[in-house]
Amino acid sequence: MTEVEQLEKITVTPRKNLLGDITVPGDKSISHRAAILSSIANGTSIIKGFLESEDCLNTLRAFEHMGVSINKLDAGVYSIYGVGLDGLSEPGDVIDVGNSGTAIRLLCGVLAGQRFYSVITGDESIRRRPMGRVVNPLREMGAQIMGRENGDKAPLSIYGGGLRPIRHRSSIASAQVKSAILLAGLFADGETAVIEPALSRNHTELMLQAFGADVRARGAEVSVVGRPNLKAQQMTVPGDISSAAYFITAAVITPSSQITIRNVGINPTRTGILDVLRMMGADISVDNIRSEAGEPTADITAKSSRLCGVNIAGDLVPRLIDEVPILSVAAAVADGVTIIADAEELRVKETDRISTVISELTKMGADIEEMPDGMIIHGVPKLKGAVCASHGDHRIAMSCLIAGLSAEGETTVLDTKNIATSFPGFADILDSL
Ligand code: S3P
Repeated sequence: MTEVEQLEKITVTPRKNLLGDITVPGDKSISHRAAILSSIANGTSIIKGFLESEDCLNTLRAFEHMGVSINKLDAGVYSIYGVGLDGLSEPGDVIDVGNSGTAIRLLCGVLAGQRFYSVITGDESIRRRPMGRVVNPLREMGAQIMGRENGDKAPLSIYGGGLRPIRHRSSIASAQVKSAILLAGLFADGETAVIEPALSRNHTELMLQAFGADVRARGAEVSVVGRPNLKAQQMTVPGDISSAAYFITAAVITPSSQITIRNVGINPTRTGILDVLRMMGADISVDNIRSEAGEPTADITAKSSRLCGVNIAGDLVPRLIDEVPILSVAAAVADGVTIIADAEELRVKETDRISTVISELTKMGADIEEMPDGMIIHGVPKLKGAVCASHGDHRIAMSCLIAGLSAEGETTVLDTKNIATSFPGFADILDSL
């Protein structure tokens, strides 16, 4: 064990029950989009509930490097002085997105529209992840993009501008791909369209509409008309359902537990976790439904429940793609077998999440078979404590810690610093329950 892993480890012991009434930080996807659209809109936007995680702060920094003035007014409250579609300036240095796939792919879309030179890169995980999925359509629109492996791997250098609209049929359901193309489409004359095999999260299209762009969505096809007049907005980012998912699952799998998470985004493109846990038998209620920033928001209460195995495949997968690690924890202690298929995208997330979920949950006594596009999970009555590795992946770290709350004995997760990429304050909430 290295010194850093020792220092940044977290240990949890089993809890008799978990009770709490909590909030989770702002939605990561919505925060990125709020930073991006506010920066290229006309006028001053005020964003409340902005997720102050490494990933989203990197997106803010990127726009500061391009001349956007951003002020922190309070915790999670930012004013962003939008410079308009043509107001960004050439960054003086390489843009570093850290660990954020959303930042690098969405920013590629914006940079493709700029008549200046930029270089964008990220950490070791980012530099391993495929970028051809955004680079190729952006090249088709007219951007000049170079990178390792013919532009599939960061660092990427981009010289953009003079874009033409395209109609892109994507082979993967990916909100990052869809969003990169739609954002580039803002700088093209005419209508840019993306057709996905299944609908991925639609925060970009909702927020573009809120900022005044002409967006049309029909099923899994969406288009935007270029050169809109984007108007500054005031918005409050709802809590991140992907963060709430850890505590929803914790309550469900731990005896005598009940946790309410207030103010969580329940956009239907993100609520696959609720649908699947309910199919498994979980007692989950959704109350006080309202709307924040054009996004449905609610309070979610989850109670201890007896779970059974289910099949997860097809259009459901993009609706819960980031929740597969924590759903695997639920499946690991459910009665019967859970099959997760059509989820090959997991192989190219922050880590190969099929292999990292299997390696870590197996250490805790889970019974999981690997498939090329998913897993077959045979439920066991109880997991046992172990020393787990995060592999540098925030969602693996948090999933193992939640598993540890109802396991037998102590669970230690090494190298948990990465949790801050999406969920600063996770450990404090865990302690408070
Ligand atoms: C995200 C999209 C998802 C998700 C990621 C955030 C986004 O990726 O895994 O954590 O904000 O657009 P893809 O839909 O591109 O697979």
